[in-house]
Amino acid sequence: MTTNREMTMDDRPIAVLGATGKTGRRLVRRLRGQGRPVRALSRSGETRFDWFDESTWDAAVTGAGALYLVCPTDPGPVPAFVRRAADAGVERFVALSGRGAEHFGTAGVSFGVDMVAGEAAVRESGASWTVVRANNFSQNFDEDLFHAPLVAGRLALPIDDTPEPFVDVEDVADVAAALLTGREHDGEVIELSGPRGISFREAVATIAEAAGREIRFVELDREEYVKELVDEGWSEADAETLTQMFDLMRRGALAEPADGVERVLGRPAADFESYVARTAATGAWAGA
Ligand SMILES: NC(=O)c1ccc[n+]([C@@H]2O[C@H](COP(=O)([O-])OP(=O)(O)OC[C@H]3O[C@@H](n4cnc5c(N)ncnc54)[C@H](OP(=O)(O)O)[C@@H]3O)[C@@H](O)[C@H]2O)c1
Repeated sequence: MTTNREMTMDDRPIAVLGATGKTGRRLVRRLRGQGRPVRALSRSGETRFDWFDESTWDAAVTGAGALYLVCPTDPGPVPAFVRRAADAGVERFVALSGRGAEHFGTAGVSFGVDMVAGEAAVRESGASWTVVRANNFSQNFDEDLFHAPLVAGRLALPIDDTPEPFVDVEDVADVAAALLTGREHDGEVIELSGPRGISFREAVATIAEAAGREIRFVELDREEYVKELVDEGWSEADAETLTQMFDLMRRGALAEPADGVERVLGRPAADFESYVARTAATGAWAGA
């Protein structure tokens, strides 16, 4: 009799890009917890991989059976790398992308060109692929862009009360692990979100209450936001690109909850409140 494990995997390593990042780090942990061989790839991690140092590519992909693709902001090398991986025998790709990707890279939207490059590359690879389009991560509030402003007591963004169904990165990692070790969703685009949309104002209020501190949310217009980013040292171009993500959100392009977590894992997506309770307990939002 063939066991489920034999049907859904081979014993070659799974290559994980961005292995020190928010999704990759958790994905590596999950796959290893399941006893799968993993090649953890990034510039500073276990196995050195640099998108912009082609001499690191072959060791990253040779002998790997599947690959988790996290693209660089400048997507220039993505098609060549994915081709190299497929030529080296990688048979399955799972590409991380974003909700609203149908708008990325269209007229006037430079936001997300990295993610659409990754989507296109895996579609054209000739290998089996699944694209994962995630909403804004809950963990942006403690591991990324929104963390320092929250600690400082003021998060100011160019967004109104349009809901955003933040997705817990733990769910993204669970989904990626399932997709990399099975074939059920071959050729599909899976959209991932939390179970309900909440405004950034509500998100900040939830965090402030859990942290036991006053933290303000301030709605900016897009020019004010670009100026704040530039004052912090961002280039005009990068500030404009990030602001375009909020433009898309304001238009409601990412606002509806998606069913991908349930579809892949057969259980509901984690809610924002449990992420906040868990994270506040670590002291992540204690004042400076
Ligand atoms: N944040 C969100 O809400 C959200 C939502 C949907 C989609 N996404 C997409 O998710 C992706 C980011 O994934 P993530 O949040 O899991 O990662 P992350 O936390 O942003 O970390 C980036 C990872 O990429 C690695 N890296 C950076 N530059 C590299 C280079 N030149 N060569 C090789 N590796 C490099 C970093 O490791 P080293 O520094 O060690 O190299 C790190 O492991 C982006 O494409 C983003 O657009 C994000």
